[in-house]
Amino acid sequence: MTPDLIFALPGNETQAEQLADALGCKAGALTTRKFPDGETYLRFDSAIEGKRVALVSTLNDPDAKIVPLLFAANAARMMGASKVGLCAPYLAYMRQDRSFHPGEAVTSRAMAALVSQYFDWMVTVDPHLHRYKSMAEIYTIPVTAVHAAPALSAWIAAQVKNPFLIGPDEESAQWVSETARGLGAPYATLEKIRQGDRVVTVSAPDVAVIGDRTPILLDDIISSGQTMLEVVKLLRAKGIEHPICLAVHGLFAGHSDRALTELGARIVTASSVPGPFAQIDLTRLIADGIRQTA
Ligand code: R5P
Repeated sequence: MTPDLIFALPGNETQAEQLADALGCKAGALTTRKFPDGETYLRFDSAIEGKRVALVSTLNDPDAKIVPLLFAANAARMMGASKVGLCAPYLAYMRQDRSFHPGEAVTSRAMAALVSQYFDWMVTVDPHLHRYKSMAEIYTIPVTAVHAAPALSAWIAAQVKNPFLIGPDEESAQWVSETARGLGAPYATLEKIRQGDRVVTVSAPDVAVIGDRTPILLDDIISSGQTMLEVVKLLRAKGIEHPICLAVHGLFAGHSDRALTELGARIVTASSVPGPFAQIDLTRLIADGIRQTA
C-alpha cells in the first residue's frame, strides 16, 4: 500500500519530496524547532487523523535524531493516524549485535525494541546484517530491507570501464562477489582485524591481479572511514593511486572523507545519507520497498 502522507524530519525534506513524487502521494508539513533549553517542539501542520503516515529520517548522527523521531511517531498516533511507518534509509545501531565484552549493551536490540514500539512498519536500506540473519530476529513489525546492490552495480557499469572490485573484509565477501559476478568483473576480498573504533588492519591486496583495472573498494558503510583509509594506503604503497571508494552509506565520522580525498581516492555513495558524495539515487528502490510494506 502507499501512505497518504509523507513527513520529513529535519534534513530529510528532499528525500521525502522525491518519495512522495515516486509514490504519487502528498508530502505533509511538520514543523520542528528546539526550545531554548534544547527540548524538541513538534507540530503537524497537515491533518493526519485516519491517514496512513510515513516519517522519513535517515539515522546518521542517531542520538540527536531518535528522540524527535519517536516523539513525532507518538504524536501521529495520538492524533489518530491509522498507520505510522518509518523510512530510515540509513539505520543506526545495527553493528552492536552482540555483547563482545561482559556488561556491554546490545544496542541493536534496544533500537529494534524502540522502533517496533513506536511504528507499524519500517523500510531501510542494507542494514548491517552480520550476526543477525534477518531483521525479523530483532524487529517485531514488518521491515523491508532494500538492497542497494543493483543501483551500485548500475553505477559501476555506467561509469567505470575496467573495474576490479575489492571487498575490505570477510563480511563484504558475499556482496562483493555477487556484484562482481553481475558485472562480469574480477574481484578480491581482504581480511580485516578491528582493534578499536579507529584502528583497523587489513591484509594487503595483490596488486598484480588488479593490473591496469580501476580498483573499486566496495563496502556497506564508511563510518570512521578507517577501513577504506587502510586499503587506500595499502594500494598507494604499491603504486595504485586513484581507487574509487564506493559504499551504500557514507557517514564520514572525523572528516574521513577529507582524508580519503587527500590520499587520491574518489568517493561515491548511495543517497541513503545526503551529502556531496551521494550520487547514486535510491528513491525508486525505497519507494518500491514502501509500497510492499506500508
Ligand atoms: C564492517 O563490518 C562494515 O562492513 C564496514 O567495513 C565497517 O563498518 C566500516 O567502518 P569504518 O568506516 O569505521 O572502518
